[in-house]
Amino acid sequence: MSNAAPIETPFLLGMMRLHDVAELHPPACLADWIEARLDEGLDWFDHADIYGDTQGEALFGAALRARPGLAARVKIVTKASIVTPARDASPFRVKHYDSSPEYLAQSIDASLTRLGVERLDHFLLHRPSPLMDAEATGRALDDAIDAGKVGAVGVSNFLPAQWRRLQAAMHHRLAVHQLQLSLDHTQSLFDGTLDALVGDGLVPLAWSPLGGGRVFQGPAERLLIGLAEERGMTPAGLALAWLRALPGRPRPVIGSLRSERIAALQADAQAALDHPTWYALLEAARGHEVA
Ligand SMILES: NC(=O)c1ccc[n+]([C@@H]2O[C@H](COP(=O)([O-])OP(=O)(O)OC[C@H]3O[C@@H](n4cnc5c(N)ncnc54)[C@H](OP(=O)(O)O)[C@@H]3O)[C@@H](O)[C@H]2O)c1
Repeated sequence: MSNAAPIETPFLLGMMRLHDVAELHPPACLADWIEARLDEGLDWFDHADIYGDTQGEALFGAALRARPGLAARVKIVTKASIVTPARDASPFRVKHYDSSPEYLAQSIDASLTRLGVERLDHFLLHRPSPLMDAEATGRALDDAIDAGKVGAVGVSNFLPAQWRRLQAAMHHRLAVHQLQLSLDHTQSLFDGTLDALVGDGLVPLAWSPLGGGRVFQGPAERLLIGLAEERGMTPAGLALAWLRALPGRPRPVIGSLRSERIAALQADAQAALDHPTWYALLEAARGHEVA
């Protein structure tokens, strides 16, 4: 069995934009920010090696080192397998995916070092590679759990056939699937992906749960604003409540690093939607009623 902490949180804090937020770059400032989130009960942080080309993990690690005691309180998700052109050593300088055992083992070690933690709570394959050797990749992921470097492993942006081929080669269970899911991106609700992952016991983590901000500019904007006002909550909180109504209770991975927006989302985290409200938002977002 893996030794994973269950992801019990209203949402995870995505670190994809950290390298762009200069005021959080001094280690003491970021340590204050992380500590404030932990004190609010938000302890899951979502990283990837490619965020800021490793800068995201490095900044976070510097903050953990600057504030003793912090590293033991945070729960870390990180991902690897995307090789950017700048990091491709071949003459092609081509963006590609690498899920070979050697690449994954060195990625896990590098993330542990950058972050300055003893264990990654969850390590995810960021994207599926058509060239993945499932037996070799599965063994590498099992080995990382057995070595205590990783609490659990999961996948991101995989199709059911892709994660099932990997799972069949592993003795540990895949724990999570991080997928693009929001009012702005509803495809996985209608192509069987969400049903398959819930049926297979994977916890859904919804990336870009506000569509990177697009849900506020899209066709559902007016309904979100009106309904939120009626309920005394924020449109963003309502958009996350819409996600949590789904089977498997998808955990949103939010992108804002603004304390006031994070606090507002937390204040709205208990909101529940009835079925007609849920469908009204779906219809507004897609621009047509269901068949
Ligand atoms: N697995 C994958 O392939 C994958 C891909 C992409 C992302 N991710 C993960 O998902 C995380 C979130 O992605 P995302 O940034 O696109 O998520 P998001 O939460 O959907 O969007 C965040 C954006 O919405 C804006 N926003 C506007 N109004 C907001 C409000 N009221 N409350 C909160 N945000 C508001 C934010 O602006 P401000 O920043 O100005 O607040 C920010 O630009 C990333 O950090 C990363 O960890 C994973």
